[in-house]
Amino acid sequence: MKPSIPKVHEGVGFAHGKIILMGEHAVVYGHDAIAWPLLSSHVKTIAKQVSSSHIHSSLFDGVLEQAPVYLKTFILQLQDALDLQGVDLTITSDLPLGAGLGSSAAIAGSITAACFDLCHQPLPLADRLKWIHVFETSVHGNPSGVDGFMTSTQSPIVFNKIKGFQTIQTPIQGFLVIAHSQVFGSTKEAVALVARYVKQHGMKQVDELGKFVQQAKLFLTQGNLVGLGRLMFQAHQALKELGVSHPQVDRMVEQALTAGALGAKLTGGGLGGCVIALFQDAQHAQALLKQWNVQGYAPGWVLDLHHG
Ligand code: PMV
Repeated sequence: MKPSIPKVHEGVGFAHGKIILMGEHAVVYGHDAIAWPLLSSHVKTIAKQVSSSHIHSSLFDGVLEQAPVYLKTFILQLQDALDLQGVDLTITSDLPLGAGLGSSAAIAGSITAACFDLCHQPLPLADRLKWIHVFETSVHGNPSGVDGFMTSTQSPIVFNKIKGFQTIQTPIQGFLVIAHSQVFGSTKEAVALVARYVKQHGMKQVDELGKFVQQAKLFLTQGNLVGLGRLMFQAHQALKELGVSHPQVDRMVEQALTAGALGAKLTGGGLGGCVIALFQDAQHAQALLKQWNVQGYAPGWVLDLHHG
């Protein structure tokens, strides 16, 4: 009988993306944000113990020494905390970067979970969020924490960086089309742009967005889909005023309304990225997704707001 080869232990970590229904940017200034997990997206990291660290991903493939500085610093900090001499990480993700879907938080979450699993260490949610926050701070400066939270939870929530989170219970029946404009936005740039806007013009526009979120919460409780759609469009106008939209994104919002959407807006940081459009029925939502895919706006999803 052949001697059995001892199986090398691998650590595995998972995460998913998110969409912000309402409240992006305002959430950085202490307002609420309403967000849904994008459970059909998948980010996975496999970690193996090695003597010298490597990363394999579509973003970067090579030795850790040559990795982008934010990634290298993060992994070295994790190695230090877990007393790991070296780690070989294989990261796979179907989330586009710079799309407003929380991909950087999801990558950080999956790497953290994989490294902790490799070391047989428990990873309470608070610790996972703390590590994602470390990564997000170096990637985009002043994160509210909504992305980190959403990539680690299964339910739609109202998130507030001071008050914490609340799970959403809603009778609402509706479908959201999500599609990528093919314009890659930088959340860091968008957050900095809003900060400049606030410095020049004050908080009026941001507070306006915050008010839309409060109304949207009410409409979600009442199951008022039409009202919610109208608010989404108003929120888009406010985000446009803040300077974080993009002509391509505005065109997609117009197309969605022409296709019968109750409302549409950018989602996430903006300056490109994804558009979300709200429909009462799945057929019209699927038809718009098909139209957008033909036009090259991909990837895309239809999210059933009732069933997740
Ligand atoms: O672009 P994303 O997916 O990172 O979403 C960012 C959401 C913002 O409100 C713009 C920033 C934040 O940290 O909340």
